[in-house]
Amino acid sequence: MAVREILIHPDDRLREICKPVSFPLSDDVKQIIKDMADTMYDAPGVGLAAPQIGVSLQIAVTDTVWRSSEVRHDPDNPGGSRELKVWINPEFLWKSDEMATWEEGCLSVPETFADVTRPAAVRLRWFDMEGEAHEQDFDGFPAVALQHEFDHLLGKLFIDYLSPLKRKMITKKMKKLYK
Ligand code: NI
Repeated sequence: MAVREILIHPDDRLREICKPVSFPLSDDVKQIIKDMADTMYDAPGVGLAAPQIGVSLQIAVTDTVWRSSEVRHDPDNPGGSRELKVWINPEFLWKSDEMATWEEGCLSVPETFADVTRPAAVRLRWFDMEGEAHEQDFDGFPAVALQHEFDHLLGKLFIDYLSPLKRKMITKKMKKLYK
């Protein structure tokens, strides 16, 4: 298990546009994905994108089942039931006109939560670790989580959707807490 340091906003590495991953995956990239999962579960979080550990590649991991604290803290099932998903070179093929608002947070912007409005449903194409392409529609919480994570791959954070004033206050708070 290798838990990596999570970069905290503001950090230029969180603002990079990530490069696509080529297949077959190198041992290095396989290790990065394993470390990303370990780091996400350790945090704990429901999603982590490669730039959050300083890797500028189009990879994210999520576990939107494990997010439920009832699952996570079940004494009969320490650690909870897990549904780790690995997303490589993801691309949205469609986003709904219908919007939905969810409260979001981010491991790179600790202890900060805010409502963000995004398309309620999306169609995604991505690659798995074997290099197989997949296509699927998502709505509800997974749609939010995926849009949040894949924003990271474009150097974008959820606080970018907030007012400039609010964003400035959050940045100030992060600098104070994590300098
Ligand atoms: Ni995030």
